[in-house]
Amino acid sequence: SGLITMDVGFKNTGSTTSNITFLDGEKGILRHRGYSIEDLAEKASFVEVAYLLIYGHLPSTEELDAFQSEIRRHTLVHENIKDIFQGFPASAHPMGVLSSLVTTLSAFHPESLDPHRDAEAVNLTIIRLLAKIPTLAAWSYKNSQGHPQLYPDNKLGYVENFLKMMFGLPTEEYNIDPALVEALDKLLILHADHEQNCSAATVRVVGSSEASLYASISGGINALWGGLHGGANQKVIEMLEMIKADGGDIQKYIDKAKDPNDPFRLMGFGHRVYKNFDPRAKIIKKYCDVVLDKLGVQDQTLDIAKKLEEAALNDEYFINRKLFPNVDFYSGIIYRAMGFPVEMFTVLFAIGRLPGWIAQWKESREMKQAISRPRQIYTGPALRPLVREEEAV
Ligand code: CMC
Repeated sequence: SGLITMDVGFKNTGSTTSNITFLDGEKGILRHRGYSIEDLAEKASFVEVAYLLIYGHLPSTEELDAFQSEIRRHTLVHENIKDIFQGFPASAHPMGVLSSLVTTLSAFHPESLDPHRDAEAVNLTIIRLLAKIPTLAAWSYKNSQGHPQLYPDNKLGYVENFLKMMFGLPTEEYNIDPALVEALDKLLILHADHEQNCSAATVRVVGSSEASLYASISGGINALWGGLHGGANQKVIEMLEMIKADGGDIQKYIDKAKDPNDPFRLMGFGHRVYKNFDPRAKIIKKYCDVVLDKLGVQDQTLDIAKKLEEAALNDEYFINRKLFPNVDFYSGIIYRAMGFPVEMFTVLFAIGRLPGWIAQWKESREMKQAISRPRQIYTGPALRPLVREEEAV
């Protein structure tokens, strides 16, 4: 054990070199393949950012067209998968449904199990994932509502298609609000990758054993689900609602978060890497007002969130620990204004993070990353004879 360096939670352990995402937590910088997150959010589309992350460069017009039409060709999922939905209770959390069904895709596309298949075959799995995950996500919501699942409409763009499958009904025309499309597209960009975070690291760990890309992405979805990671966006709204129902007493919750004997944490606050500000949260906060305004939505929890942020940013506890709002703090308010139920918030994060996971998996496979297998220091009993209690008498 003398040779083992302990780093519980991998706070200071580098697990790989990577040329996908650059992050400087002290300065609040986030860049994908050299482009700043601010530029990408303002000037690119989510599908372009997906291409950039996965293939390493921004697509030309022809490359983007080809990429989009390939994705469109694969938006349908096997009809038998539709039947599987009937086995889930309506109350099933869509993250669990999504991760199960992403693993299930490997049963319908078993060629993905071959770790030595050629690049073209790997690419087909990548396209299938990008194409089918929005369909599975929307269908899990429809299942929870007891509503019929809508087939993808391949005349539509990536985000529009997802919104239609989510909110459309076979009985009426669904009019897509361009403000909604723009807002979701931007939010997905802001979630697209974040270097070696818990879920991306999971994807690489699972992939390192040569498990399939579907299994690796499913692992990522499960890691994202937790409240300390992507699940925080659902927890933020639940917290804001709790504060609202409790008469909006902000200080009470600030004090609860500071109390070492109380497990309550300010959800959407703090980050392992950002110790100054989260550049994504800055963009989302600004965007929150704009979107709510455009959609004509008034939400009291936005006021509570702003007051909570102000109170925390002026409190010694949060200042000393360098705790700032993260990407999840304001995103849920926008999702809700768009009509998404809280259970879908983390699914939206997963749809956004998918290109990042794929890029991380692809990079780790191309660099032939060794199997991930950390060490430990054993603290259990020393060797003891197997004598049962009654025998010992
Ligand atoms: N509220 C109150 N105290 C906090 C919070 C918080 N949100 N976050 C950290 N602290 C305290 C923590 O108790 C500790 O205090 P002390 O040194 O006195 O023991 C100190 O700050 C350092 O925290 P840590 O837990 O050691 O830091 P970490 O890097 O292991 O955890 C974190 C990072 C994001 C898990 C944590 O800040 C947290 O639980 N935040 C709330 C959940 C959340 O918003 N998660 C979303 C993260 S960003 C997007 C994503 O990954 O999905």
